Amino acid sequence: MTARVLSVAAIALWLITIAVAVFFFVYGRTQVAPDGRTAVLLASDERDLVLTEMRGMLETVQVVVDGVKAGDMKRIAQAARASGMAAAADVNPALMAKLPIEFKRLGLSVHKRFDEIAATAESGASREQLLATLSTQLSACVACHASYRLDAETPAAK
Ligand code: HEC
Repeated sequence: MTARVLSVAAIALWLITIAVAVFFFVYGRTQVAPDGRTAVLLASDERDLVLTEMRGMLETVQVVVDGVKAGDMKRIAQAARASGMAAAADVNPALMAKLPIEFKRLGLSVHKRFDEIAATAESGASREQLLATLSTQLSACVACHASYRLDAETPAAK
């Protein structure tokens, strides 16, 4: 093989690698589930990680509602910030590649809105304003759950 053929082959391989990476970044690893939702296929430890994060967000919602009831803006800000963009920063690239782009977009918007809730609480906003932002936030939770679920990459042995 000439050097020219080799370099063309190397470039082709490189392009294919990029195309595959872009494909996964956009589409993730998914299949249509029997209930009509899009199942994101994850390894069991990745699924556990995402679900742990979900339970953390539910807890944040609980603290925020309780804080609104008690008028405790400091507690609201603290809890909301813990579920904000800082919580999204450490997700590993292999897991990110399996999530479809719309899932990533919705996930990031929810983290961003928790930071917004924290800032709203710190700015001395009214309870109604806080509840309005929380209501928008819960609509995003509901929308994502209606569209996606998390399934195991390989079906568990029966
Ligand atoms: C980007 C999509 C997405 C967003 C946004 C989202 N979730 Fe989830 N959540 C999921 C998926 C997918 C599951 C798994 C559902 C399934 O497999 O049926 C899940 C599961 C959960 C669970 C169950 C956890 C467990 O241990 O089984 C809770 C609780 C939860 N989410 C809370 C929330 C709350 C609260 C919000 C909003 C603040 C939220 N989620 C936003 C996608 C999302």
